[in-house]
Amino acid sequence: MDSGSKVLITGATGQVAFPVAIALAVEHQVTAIARFRDTAKREALEARGVECVEVDLAKADFAKVSTDFDYVANFAVLKSGKWDLDVNLYAESISLLMEHTRSAKAFLHCSSTGVYQPAGAHELKESDPLGDNHRAMMPTYSISKIAAEVMVRYSARRFSIPTTIARLNVPYGDEGGWPAFHLAMMRAGQPIPVHADRPNLFNPIHHDDIARMVPALLDSASLPTTIVNWGGDETVSLEEWCELLASEAGCVPTFIETDSTIGGVRVDLTRMHELVGHTKIDWREGMRRLVASHPA
Ligand SMILES: NC(=O)c1ccc[n+]([C@@H]2O[C@H](COP(=O)([O-])OP(=O)(O)OC[C@H]3O[C@@H](n4cnc5c(N)ncnc54)[C@H](OP(=O)(O)O)[C@@H]3O)[C@@H](O)[C@H]2O)c1
Repeated sequence: MDSGSKVLITGATGQVAFPVAIALAVEHQVTAIARFRDTAKREALEARGVECVEVDLAKADFAKVSTDFDYVANFAVLKSGKWDLDVNLYAESISLLMEHTRSAKAFLHCSSTGVYQPAGAHELKESDPLGDNHRAMMPTYSISKIAAEVMVRYSARRFSIPTTIARLNVPYGDEGGWPAFHLAMMRAGQPIPVHADRPNLFNPIHHDDIARMVPALLDSASLPTTIVNWGGDETVSLEEWCELLASEAGCVPTFIETDSTIGGVRVDLTRMHELVGHTKIDWREGMRRLVASHPA
């Protein structure tokens, strides 16, 4: 990415894209689109020079959005639990956004390792079977992310936009994430649900690594679309990170086995390493920083 590029980012009020937008704004002209329900986040973005334009993706009206971006990074996600909204309108709106910004040099779509068929401790490659590993907790999520991937691939070809689909594992950091929910539950004395197929292995990735890798993911965009897993180099169990978080926060973790939660999702990162390199934040350091940034 050349410095001073015009970048459009969606979902910039969310826990993953907020630090990405702030990092990109250091060198680039960044525009964020969202509904901006969290006005403090909007003010924080604007204070860093990010232009904020209100758009509801459910309506897919991009009339107020410029068309001349160099790069577009889509981090928005709809998690209402309503099928038509989360699956159909989400996938359609991303495709319409790609059409609107079709002159971009590259498009990055943040997907999820939630698109894979549950596979326990198997290291999932990008070619492994797709499925619905989030059904127990978020019924629409996996299907919505699969539908969006298909629309993004179609739109990349239809509008000749070099594109990367990056399947993110477990993001976490100062802005929160699943481990931050676990921390809050443990502080409240609640047991952490874990799938019975233990240990529940994941590749958590710190927000700093995510933000650092976005330019290289955009530079890896291609036609047909590049598809790459996106996670931390270290495989860590949910049980391990909860134990570390609890010990840092001075509380005691308890676990309850249930099928009503997401089982481990562990990914093969060979392609990520080839395209954008390795993550840098050691998971123990990252989790300690999460506790420090989330006081009781
Ligand atoms: N969180 C995870 O553990 C995880 C794991 C793997 C992959 N991912 C992926 O990472 C990306 C970011 O996720 P996240 O956790 O940061 O999400 P998040 O915190 O829930 O944020 C969602 C973002 O989407 C925007 N959004 C929601 N509905 C919208 C609408 N109707 N119109 C316009 N914008 C809308 C929200 O902005 P407004 O509410 O202001 O409109 C917000 O900026 C997503 O693609 C997600 O699938 C997340």
